[in-house]
Amino acid sequence: MTKPRKKNRLCSLLGIEHPIVQGGMIYNSGAKLAAAVSNAGGLGLIGAGSMRPELFGEQIRKARGLTENPIGVNLPLLYANSRECLEVALAEGVKIFFTSAGSPKRAIGPLKKAGCVVVHVAASRELAIKCEDAGCDAVVVEGFEAGGHNGRDEITTMVLVPECVQAVSIPVIAAGGIATGEQMVAAMALGAEAVQIGSRFAVTVEGSGHAKFKDAVVAAGAGDTQLVMKAHVPVRLLKNEFRDQVMALENQGADREELADLLGSGRARAGMLEGDLDQGELEIGQVAGLIDDIPEVAELMTRLLDQYHSTLTRLCRE
Ligand SMILES: Cc1cc2nc3c(=O)[nH]c(=O)nc-3n(C[C@H](O)[C@H](O)[C@H](O)COP(=O)(O)O)c2cc1C
Repeated sequence: MTKPRKKNRLCSLLGIEHPIVQGGMIYNSGAKLAAAVSNAGGLGLIGAGSMRPELFGEQIRKARGLTENPIGVNLPLLYANSRECLEVALAEGVKIFFTSAGSPKRAIGPLKKAGCVVVHVAASRELAIKCEDAGCDAVVVEGFEAGGHNGRDEITTMVLVPECVQAVSIPVIAAGGIATGEQMVAAMALGAEAVQIGSRFAVTVEGSGHAKFKDAVVAAGAGDTQLVMKAHVPVRLLKNEFRDQVMALENQGADREELADLLGSGRARAGMLEGDLDQGELEIGQVAGLIDDIPEVAELMTRLLDQYHSTLTRLCRE
């Protein structure tokens, strides 16, 4: 695997070799995926979003058995059991927390007290500034292309990254629409110090999603996803019958409760973990159009880094 020339401050902060973070992804980011990414020199995150606290603790211990490199956790703050998951991760000695979906202020106190690195996910310049003010060590800025939950303002990664780099002095990690080394170079050229990749890592051998979900992403084009539920919790989904139901409800002017009822019936689990491609919720980013295979993580990381370094070399020559 090609070695980076020198560590930037984000790699130093996280104790990793390559500036690549695997984003937390409900039903897709368990111990195997996180450990494989960390073993390849990136940072793997175990996603708490779809786990009960006991399972979350088990997955942290399992990942520890699979890698000696640093791993972190992703903790969405909107779930009822977020605080319990936070306590489980602290008790397990986790030192790197990527929080999301809520105010960074909700969790940062106990995490900083325990000496953890805290990174929050923001989809706007305003929230990135709040992350810095709250004391976060870095911020993930996630553009509108990204899979999963998203901001309402539809700001693309290409615009959001430079906006946030100008606005904060903590390191910025770019997310949304990155699946190749060429896209990594673009993000770094905009001032990011690392990238967070979700969709591309979901579609790997080690991703814990259902094989049918991975195959559906391989078959999908960039225009096959859509950001829906902007009035409730905006989320980018693969177009299917479930997406049609969501759209129909939205068009009828459904309120948050009605949309929450539709979502709250295990649709994400059905779609991504159990492979129900019609009635399930299939979260994926626009980069679905660039995802054509299901590699092992080690192979994917080698590919990303080779593309990254050969693109830098080409640009320096031109
Ligand atoms: C299937 C899926 C589930 C996701 N779940 C979460 C989550 O639980 N918490 C979170 O902070 N972000 C979540 N995300 C967002 C990712 O962590 C990451 O920021 C995003 O995927 C980056 O954009 P990309 O998909 O274009 O790579 C999810 C993304 C996907 C594709």
